[in-house]
Amino acid sequence: MKAITLLVLTLLISLGAKADYSPSFEVGKQKAKVCMTCHGEDGISNIDPYPNLRGQKVGYLISSLKDYQTRQRNSGLAILMQQQADALSDQDIKDIAYYFSVLGTPKEEE
Ligand code: HEC
Repeated sequence: MKAITLLVLTLLISLGAKADYSPSFEVGKQKAKVCMTCHGEDGISNIDPYPNLRGQKVGYLISSLKDYQTRQRNSGLAILMQQQADALSDQDIKDIAYYFSVLGTPKEEE
């Protein structure tokens, strides 16, 4: 009985997390337009100190953007990104991170 309750709870939590995450490639793509001027249309930047975002891990993209917002990332060109990150809501960050993480990977075709 206990095991079943635990299983149901775990299922509910994972479903809930998915529903809450609700990333959409197209939504992310629209929101990412501003990012493309520096990070490239295809997520590959044309300017050397500007990093590529294409296919990057979603968790890393999210934590980087939060670090710019909270000024944990401060070095060199971070000031450019702090201003960009300030304009993003948590939902924007999730959508955009999802978009770049899927870009150029087999998941993009799904
Ligand atoms: C004005 C140019 C510019 C724009 C516009 C811009 N970025 Fe950046 N971005 C940079 C630069 C430069 C860096 C490297 C900063 C550093 O050294 O920390 C960077 C770094 C990042 C990183 C960290 C990458 C890594 O590998 O550590 C992420 C994530 C990122 N940008 C996402 C975005 C997103 C999302 C947007 C759009 C909302 C965006 N950027 C818009 C210039 C830009």
